[in-house]
Amino acid sequence: MSQPPISLHRLPRLRNRELAQLGGLIRPGTHASSLLDFGKRFVVSPPGFPTMLVTHDMDDVREVFANHDDFSVGQLMSRLSSHDRVFGKETLIFLEGDDHRRERRLFSPPFQSKALKSYEDLMIEVVERELPTWPIGEPIEFLQVGYDLAIGVLLNVIFGDVAPERRERLKQAVKNWFGAIESRGFLAVTLLTPVLGGYTLPYPPLNRGQAAVDAVIIEEIAARRAAPDGGSDRRDMLARYINTDLDQHDDAALSRNMRGILLGAYETTAITLGWIATMLAGHPEVMAELDAAIDAGDGPRIDAYLDAVVAETMRLRPVSPFTGRRALRDTVVNGLAIPKGTIVILPILLIHENPELYPDPLEFRPERFLDERPNGHTWLTFGAGPHRCLGASFALVEARILFRAILEQRRIQKADGPLEPPRRLHTGLSPANNALVTLLPR
Ligand code: HEM
Repeated sequence: MSQPPISLHRLPRLRNRELAQLGGLIRPGTHASSLLDFGKRFVVSPPGFPTMLVTHDMDDVREVFANHDDFSVGQLMSRLSSHDRVFGKETLIFLEGDDHRRERRLFSPPFQSKALKSYEDLMIEVVERELPTWPIGEPIEFLQVGYDLAIGVLLNVIFGDVAPERRERLKQAVKNWFGAIESRGFLAVTLLTPVLGGYTLPYPPLNRGQAAVDAVIIEEIAARRAAPDGGSDRRDMLARYINTDLDQHDDAALSRNMRGILLGAYETTAITLGWIATMLAGHPEVMAELDAAIDAGDGPRIDAYLDAVVAETMRLRPVSPFTGRRALRDTVVNGLAIPKGTIVILPILLIHENPELYPDPLEFRPERFLDERPNGHTWLTFGAGPHRCLGASFALVEARILFRAILEQRRIQKADGPLEPPRRLHTGLSPANNALVTLLPR
């Protein structure tokens, strides 16, 4: 006879005065946290918050990620952050069940490998445009480089060749919108959201910013629909939706989703690019491997080693050190009864630093991923399951293509100033000193 499920009440529970220790699970060195004394599962119930289960039992983690029907990632984000107001409740991450399956099917093709190949030139173009503006032989904040590259690639790949005047307006509107999201005012609104039970206060500058971006995107969509050839020779992402079988949204909905993709991709990519440069600057032996492959002109070796560097960087410095889900109904996970409304926290960084999964886990050793691709169950930078990051392959290809184009012309070296400890950025981590490195000619 099967055992009845275990109740959350039977698990260790963090006392309120221990809550601050949760911060130790989002900084590198998680395995030094005293919270590990609780075992692989423990419960947190801060006053005014739903019950939260933190689990790094890998069977729990697998089951929660795979369960599309009983858990929601969007509801977790709405409860703890202002994401629903920023992205819009109709975008992928906030949809569930069949609605999510349908939309995900419609939005996936431009992110699959055949399409990705066709974006490579659009990515290289951005490096060719930006690289001559970077100083040589003196410190440069590579995080800023990461932001410039990320937005350049996104505008190129999502929208492609837009009439210059409209392109300028789009760039400006996106800049203003990002400005509103990053403003102190909106940060305060975001910090208040969990305290207000998941209600995000209205923030008019954000609404104005979004409306301005949508207006330009809608104008571009309308222009393409009206074009006599329907834009059939274009390689950009928007062209892969308009006038195709995937074109099942009205202009406003298509625009909202393009805006959501832009936002989901921007900061995550920029910070990751900053981390890759930081890791290369801090590990001259890894840089030397790449130098040797580049000097030998050995394309496949460069690509294989760069893929490994990217995977290892994302293991040690995942942009989101945790993700999670909220239970939509009473359910059971790996023999544990999870009541409706419970938040399940899946601590990505803690899992990535587990010595049973990654020997010498704190060492930066790209060789781990030279002969083996990252394992989808234990390498969780992009989450897992049906809501796994739609842009995961895109982001991996992009990081390789951009760094190959950069390293073919520049070496990356440590600048004066520490590379650690990382700077706290909302619930994530960003490189110390904005990834200060020195670029040298090759
Ligand atoms: C290094 C860069 C990136 C990181 C670390 C990252 C990380 C993530 C994570 C952790 C999730 C939630 C997954 C889960 O909880 O299971 C997610 C979802 C998502 N990401 Fe990314 N992301 C990155 C880049 C991108 C890019 C480049 C795009 C698009 C071009 C993108 C679009 C999305 C979308 C649309 C979702 C929602 C998917 C769904 O709900 O079905 N992301 N991402």
